[in-house]
Amino acid sequence: MKVRKAVFPAAGFGTRFLPITKAIPKEMLPIVDKPLIQYSIEEARDSGIEQIIIVTSRGKTAIEDYFDRDPELEAFLLEKGKEELEKRVKQLSELAEYVYVRQKIAQGLGDAIMHSEKVVCDEPFAVFLSDDIIDSRVPVIRQLMDVYGQFGGSVLAVERVPRSKTSMYGVIKGEKVAPGVYRVEDLVEKPKEKPPSNLAIMGRYILTPTIFEALKTTTPGRGGEVQLTDAIRNLLATEEVYACQFEGTRYDAGDKLGFIKANMAFSMKRKEFRGELRRFLKKLP
Ligand code: G1P
Repeated sequence: MKVRKAVFPAAGFGTRFLPITKAIPKEMLPIVDKPLIQYSIEEARDSGIEQIIIVTSRGKTAIEDYFDRDPELEAFLLEKGKEELEKRVKQLSELAEYVYVRQKIAQGLGDAIMHSEKVVCDEPFAVFLSDDIIDSRVPVIRQLMDVYGQFGGSVLAVERVPRSKTSMYGVIKGEKVAPGVYRVEDLVEKPKEKPPSNLAIMGRYILTPTIFEALKTTTPGRGGEVQLTDAIRNLLATEEVYACQFEGTRYDAGDKLGFIKANMAFSMKRKEFRGELRRFLKKLP
């Protein structure tokens, strides 16, 4: 079954980015000249996703305004002869069909996904954690779709991380079934000690709708929140779950240093900035 819908949890407080996130949603912080969330929305569009479901909360209306039409601005740009800019502005609303769901209280990732149940209904869907920006030749969710097409079940994106960093992620225990593909035998959210491996879950998932049932019976875990990782663990009793070691460079743009690195890397990819930026960086003390 084709994966047509994607859920983007965006209701968090953005605590790692306070104080700026007091007034600006984390998802709207700019990486060069586009908000962070647009990178994953474009990844979804490039992978054939048709409907984007964004789970928001209070103070996040900037996201809805950004991906909406703005006829007054468009008319103004046309009048000034700025056709290219007008096209760019208008295209934002055409990247996909947008649906917004409100999470009234921030109760964790699992709870955010639960809120999308009535829109996703009974079909497999993708989940994007937009903090994770992944620069790759083939969009990562497309790579996951290929594994899903071949093996079925749910599919998680994983990357090897240093053992010292495993406590920051969901970590899987898996059996290799094909190059870069693991059948998941167990998974733990942010293991404090004895991680089952160093294969960490990065923010891309393809989930079967059975996850909604699993979420309903998952008790709050790490941080007192209903964790998606725990619900996927419950899924293992009835369904296969696979992990795909994707090809690409991932930036944790939800972290200050990762955000700066993402800005640097994406600026360096732009011809108009590359030379000057390199010279500037070399001169820095
Ligand atoms: C979330 C997930 C975690 C995953 C991580 C990837 O954690 O709970 O399993 O490894 O995203 O970025 P968070 O970073 O939101 O605490």
